[in-house]
Amino acid sequence: MAIRLGDVAPDFTAPSTEGEIKFHEWLGNSWGVLFSHPKDFTPVCTTELGRVAKLKPEFAKRNVKVLGLSVDPVSDHVRWARDIEETQGAALNFPLLGDPERKVATLYDMIHPNANDTLTVRSVFIVGPDKKVKLTITYPASTGRNFDEILRVIDSLQLTAEHKVATPVDWKDGDDVIVVPALSDEEAKARFPKGFKAIKPYLRVTPQPNK
Ligand code: BEZ
Repeated sequence: MAIRLGDVAPDFTAPSTEGEIKFHEWLGNSWGVLFSHPKDFTPVCTTELGRVAKLKPEFAKRNVKVLGLSVDPVSDHVRWARDIEETQGAALNFPLLGDPERKVATLYDMIHPNANDTLTVRSVFIVGPDKKVKLTITYPASTGRNFDEILRVIDSLQLTAEHKVATPVDWKDGDDVIVVPALSDEEAKARFPKGFKAIKPYLRVTPQPNK
């Protein structure tokens, strides 16, 4: 069953490199990024895990916990972690789930049989503090993810959860944002003291409200 935006992220208990994880309990009041890797000791995944380790302070700044998954046992992850540190210059500093029986991978529909019937694709699930799924992205095994994009998306998700705005194409934190169409001009004037520019009645732009 596909997991859709707005669904409660399925809860699970699974072993990880940092001990057993009960997903919802582990998330607490944080946002979460759950992301899958096709297999241990594979080159693209090695680079991704090193990059996420380096970006951990950026995730922490945003109150986001990161959780990787690879369909191999934790004992393999521990050996792989040495290679990640050696080759990427960053030690694994977040938990990596072991999932040799593919329980979590199946629960999250991370195996796409027409791509590969045993390995996962590169899934990304962003979960809010309410445990609901806010974003999903799926990449094929051959394409490494861009974690700057994941951080950018988190900035948008967190901003739009708090303010009645949407973020335009290629938006980055600090850029102007769009007033949601559901707000009348009067409501928008009250909510956005810096004002807004109406390029069209449906396209109204305002400075980012939390800056
Ligand atoms: C990789 O992480 O390098 C990879 C994994 C599975 C298939 C292709 C590439």
